[in-house]
Amino acid sequence: MPLGPVPRAPRETFQILRTVLSAINPDAPEVEARVLILHAAGAPQSSIHLLDSQALDGEVWERLNAWTVRRLTYEPIAYILGEREFWGLTFAVSPSVLIPRQDSEAVVEAALKHLGASGPSRILDLGTGSGCLLLALLSEWPKATGLGVDCSDDALEVAALNAQRLGLLDRAAFVRGDWGEGAAGEFDLVVSNPPYIPDEDIDGLMPDVRDFEPHLALRGGLDGLVAYRRIVATLSQRVVDGSHLIFEVGYNQAELVSNLLIASGLTVLGTNLDSAGHPRAVIACKGIPHAAPGGNPTKKGLASRAG
Ligand SMILES: C[S@@+](CC[C@H](N)C(=O)[O-])C[C@H]1O[C@@H](n2cnc3c(N)ncnc32)[C@H](O)[C@@H]1O
Repeated sequence: MPLGPVPRAPRETFQILRTVLSAINPDAPEVEARVLILHAAGAPQSSIHLLDSQALDGEVWERLNAWTVRRLTYEPIAYILGEREFWGLTFAVSPSVLIPRQDSEAVVEAALKHLGASGPSRILDLGTGSGCLLLALLSEWPKATGLGVDCSDDALEVAALNAQRLGLLDRAAFVRGDWGEGAAGEFDLVVSNPPYIPDEDIDGLMPDVRDFEPHLALRGGLDGLVAYRRIVATLSQRVVDGSHLIFEVGYNQAELVSNLLIASGLTVLGTNLDSAGHPRAVIACKGIPHAAPGGNPTKKGLASRAG
């Protein structure tokens, strides 16, 4: 028991856990300590000082110890808790899906900016994972429907669960397939966050990522761009003139991916920055864009982050 056998009061537990967790996360152990304690106590929206000042319940204490043991092996907190917030929505996650990243919100922001408030009618999400991109977009555009494609059955199960929990199952479908070959029909918006880490960089990733997240979601081949080439090659029947395509890219890949899209006959419209200022989403279009921008993204910070 890394926290000791005797249950302590929340504030004291916080001090102990913060120290224990600093061994694996010296930068922000207090953030993790707070999240774990509040979830273990069944009060994730609360704050430590609002919890009862009595010692934590024995069951809560055991749960917290078990979670701490797991976290000390570098298992990500999102997998321990089974959820992660993205675009203000709570997504179920399991080790078969990439944990939704804040960086990926740049894709959602770019879509809202380029397609406006009325939005697209049909959205295709290639490599849907937890479904976070597709479901965030459907939550913004109530008239749109969407299809999420993934080659992992386990990931598709998680995505469908998320659609159900978010009340979006009537507008979202999920299908197993190899990028665009898994889809039928035409789409006016295609989004994708494909695996883009060059193979040689995988060993150097943080252990939380390298040892726990699915390599199917990470490994981008020799130069990190293998999936983009494959996606573009499988999309010709899925997009029409005016369709938008928005790709998440690695922090230094925007130009390479843009060139790849241009070489395949698409028009690149620009990029959108992530919170660190990297061009994180590349926005392209087949032919001339039809939809006029003019939407009002509900997520804060778009104006300052749009690239
Ligand atoms: C980087 S993850 C993105 C997950 C999710 N869209 C997100 O943004 O968090 C890439 C996803 O692509 C899927 N994938 C990998 N190869 C694929 C293929 N050939 N066809 C379809 N999906 C694939 C993986 O299973 C994984 O879920």
